[in-house]
Amino acid sequence: MTLEERIQNSETHIFKAVFPNTTNHYDTLFGGTAMHMMDEVAFITATRFSRQKMVTISSEKIDFTKPIPAGTFVELIGRVTRVGNTSLVVYVEIYIEEMYSEKREKAITGQFTFVAIDENKKPTPIHFKQ
Ligand SMILES: CC(C)(COP(=O)(O)OP(=O)(O)OC[C@H]1O[C@@H](n2cnc3c(N)ncnc32)[C@H](O)[C@@H]1OP(=O)(O)O)[C@@H](O)C(=O)NCCC(=O)NCCS
Repeated sequence: MTLEERIQNSETHIFKAVFPNTTNHYDTLFGGTAMHMMDEVAFITATRFSRQKMVTISSEKIDFTKPIPAGTFVELIGRVTRVGNTSLVVYVEIYIEEMYSEKREKAITGQFTFVAIDENKKPTPIHFKQ
């Protein structure tokens, strides 16, 4: 399998309903909840790519460009964009999808770096490089 195929195969999509227990007092998705969901999809993507134990070491530049209203769906997409020696980077996008129309738009983006760890919780090389 090529690197591109492995990246394609590990691309991860999660849909969630924006229910009232996830929103703030403006009736939009709470930013901290969005970041929790993003780290989760990024973690799943990193693990499906590597099939190794992965931990988050860093998150970068999370842009909240559109508020996400209650009563919509969100789709989270995680995709590996860089593979280093022991680390890799996952780019995450969140799209808002209306429940009763086909309307869909990008709302949040960010990137998360993960490190593969061994049984002593120390960095270990990612097996799949090419
Ligand atoms: C992950 C951890 C084991 C890494 O150990 P470390 O000694 O800091 O790592 P190193 O300096 O050897 O760097 C390992 C890799 O991470 C990268 N890295 C280190 N700090 C980074 C940062 N702030 N941002 C992005 N990448 C970073 C390095 O470039 C290196 O990548 P490479 O091997 O692909 O070149 C350690 O930092 C740790 O346990 N952190 C806590 C993780 C955690 O609890 N996460 C939340 C729960 S999942």
